[in-house]
Amino acid sequence: MSSSNKVRYTSPSNIALIKYWGKYGRQYPRNASISLTLDSAYSDTSVVYEERPTAGDTVSIEFYFEEKANEAFQAKLEKYLNSIIYEVSFLRTHHLTIQSSNSFPHSAGIASSASAMSAVAMCLCRIENEIGKAFASEEALLHKASYLARLGSGSACRSVYPVAAVWGAHPQIEEGSNDHAIPFAEHLHPIFHTYKNDILIISRKEKKVSSTQGHALMEGNVYAASRYAQAEERMVRLLAAMKSGDLEEFGKIVEGEALSLHAMMMAAENPFTLLEPNTLEAISRIQAFRADSQIPLYFSLDAGPNPHLLYPEEHSSQVKEFIKNELKALCHNGLVIADQVGQGPKLIS
Ligand code: DP6
Repeated sequence: MSSSNKVRYTSPSNIALIKYWGKYGRQYPRNASISLTLDSAYSDTSVVYEERPTAGDTVSIEFYFEEKANEAFQAKLEKYLNSIIYEVSFLRTHHLTIQSSNSFPHSAGIASSASAMSAVAMCLCRIENEIGKAFASEEALLHKASYLARLGSGSACRSVYPVAAVWGAHPQIEEGSNDHAIPFAEHLHPIFHTYKNDILIISRKEKKVSSTQGHALMEGNVYAASRYAQAEERMVRLLAAMKSGDLEEFGKIVEGEALSLHAMMMAAENPFTLLEPNTLEAISRIQAFRADSQIPLYFSLDAGPNPHLLYPEEHSSQVKEFIKNELKALCHNGLVIADQVGQGPKLIS
């Protein structure tokens, strides 16, 4: 084996349907969540690893974002890698040169932590396997990648699996774990395997409150306990709807989750909202379109102002027409990112 080598992965973002909002301890979620894995919105990350002359107690890395050194990202990544230094065998013994870029425009208002951290975690596990045959199967590798991704950013642990993933302990999900996500594609109606997800970029502004700060604000929120109970109950109903393909029930729960997430922000001890006037206008147009056309188009939101449009592939042409005629004008420079359910991380080299 040579002393310097390279691994490269692309890994996608995901859209939560039942939201993770509230955490404790070492990145444990207050409630279980489920997401659809996306396709076109991904991070592309490579890691070159070279043996260090002597092992250290802290990591040795260089980080480049879109080919430029980036001190802020590098510091974040160093902190993360130091926090897992005793869980990844080669972090003490190898110097890493990490390059990353995103398929979506920078600060397009798309959550990049899920794709970024899952891409890094996939590279780390692949390297562990190349150096020391660490995993008996691909399944075992993905399991650890999901665990490591979670420690970087909670939602990232769901991005390692194709189509859909569930993360978090739940009384009615036997395999559910707070430590890592589990694959969920095989339990779903086939309609979800090709589901569409178009993102309306209402604003590209940096968020006033980060997700991490938002999670922390759940700790003093008077509605916290009922919110976690609501998520637990909705999870059961959503899984049933996604198994049978009941799109009306699916959509009602998904829109309810998006609005509950934002309601929690508005009801925090230090209240805030990330919604913009055009977010509400888009929601109202989506609901009117659905009522008129009977097409099962529903929206979700992550912790930002940009609605995700969820609909079955068979309705693509009508929905695209509607976006062009009625929603594009509400978006920043008319920006809409077309995406769909995807197959998870891909090993490039
Ligand atoms: C609203 O995973 O970004 O998108 O664990 O602090 O990195 P950290 O937070 P993050 O939170 C995501 C919140 C959400 C809902 C979700 O993806 O489940």
